[in-house]
Amino acid sequence: MSHVRLVSVTKRFGDVTAVNGLNLEIGKGECFSMLGPSGCGKTTTLRMVAGFEDLSEGEVYVGDRLISSPAKNYYLPPEKRDFGMVFQAFAVWPHLSVYENVAFPLRIRKLPAAEIEKRTKDALASTNLLPAANDSPDNLSGGGKQRVALARALAINPDVMLLDEPLSSLDPHLREEMRFEIKDLQRQYGFSILYVTHDQAEAMALSDRILVMKLGVVQQIDTPLNVYNKPANKFVFSFIGLSNFLELAWNENGEPVLSGESGSSHTIPSGLLPSDVARGAVGTPFSLASRPSEIDFVSAESGEGLKGVVSRKSFLGEIIDYQIKIGVQEMRVQKGRRAPGPEVGETCALRLLRPFFYSA
Ligand SMILES: Nc1ncnc2c1ncn2[C@@H]1O[C@H](COP(=O)(O)OP(=O)(O)OP(=O)(O)O)[C@@H](O)[C@H]1O
Ligand SMILES: [Mg+2]
Repeated sequence: MSHVRLVSVTKRFGDVTAVNGLNLEIGKGECFSMLGPSGCGKTTTLRMVAGFEDLSEGEVYVGDRLISSPAKNYYLPPEKRDFGMVFQAFAVWPHLSVYENVAFPLRIRKLPAAEIEKRTKDALASTNLLPAANDSPDNLSGGGKQRVALARALAINPDVMLLDEPLSSLDPHLREEMRFEIKDLQRQYGFSILYVTHDQAEAMALSDRILVMKLGVVQQIDTPLNVYNKPANKFVFSFIGLSNFLELAWNENGEPVLSGESGSSHTIPSGLLPSDVARGAVGTPFSLASRPSEIDFVSAESGEGLKGVVSRKSFLGEIIDYQIKIGVQEMRVQKGRRAPGPEVGETCALRLLRPFFYSA
């Protein structure tokens, strides 16, 4: 059975529809991420689940229990939802010790003193903060402060953890470390996670499933692997991983030609398209999508590949990043640093290993 369920949830702020008809079910113990560009409605969704924002339309359930429904005029206040929450900014109170920061929500709930002490100490131990219990959180690093926020959310023993870009203010190395810590805590405590991020690598690493959103509308809900390997549309393709789009159109012979060019010299090898692509009417534009890591250099003489000229070659450590000019368009290719590759100014030919076709 689903643990958290959103049914046709819509939120309007004046003329802006921040979230539009969102249906979503999160399983018990699942880590579910919402991914999308700035302003697509991630925080608004999380705030509606938390109870900080009312819905314009729709319903939210936890298990069988209705917690928000404007139609039924029902709304359970946030403090009765018992969700753990961690937000982007370090929301710790500098005038309270680390211990008191974590104990505070339990005191508000008027739990017995012994219970408060036990839960606070457990949460501090799980987040490796016991040695800092009496310090001011101001003495902690960014990662330390974020751990205090996590410990405070854990102490209320939440069934559901709502995390809104909790790692975005940390440096990349610490972010990666904290990702694993969140997963470990989830295993230990067994809560479900609704995780908001615009960092696709973070979503891929953490999640059982990912929702990709654009302007308040769901584009795809799927496993990280499927979102990467079977993107539902061009937007999802471009949002997950690095992407190339080659803009093409059909000529009068039913051949694909590069857009922005004229003449038969700019037809592209037909073997480049996925085999199931149907020919369109003359002039119909379409895009051929590919990942920079899924392109091989082939011999320029064979006539097999897509011809181009290397316009930039950058050494990025383990990989070499090439920019290839194809007519007036550009593509990126990434190869391991040990693989042989052309130099700047040289003509080369590309074979797309796994191209995707999108009508433009
Ligand atoms: N209180 C509000 N009043 C008016 N408009 C709002 C309010 N809160 C959010 N919005 C609008 O709703 C839309 C979605 O905002 P939201 O904060 O949910 O985006 P987000 O996906 O969390 O973006 P980010 O990645 O930048 O945090 C935006 O157009 C935003 O301007
Ligand atoms: Mg946000």
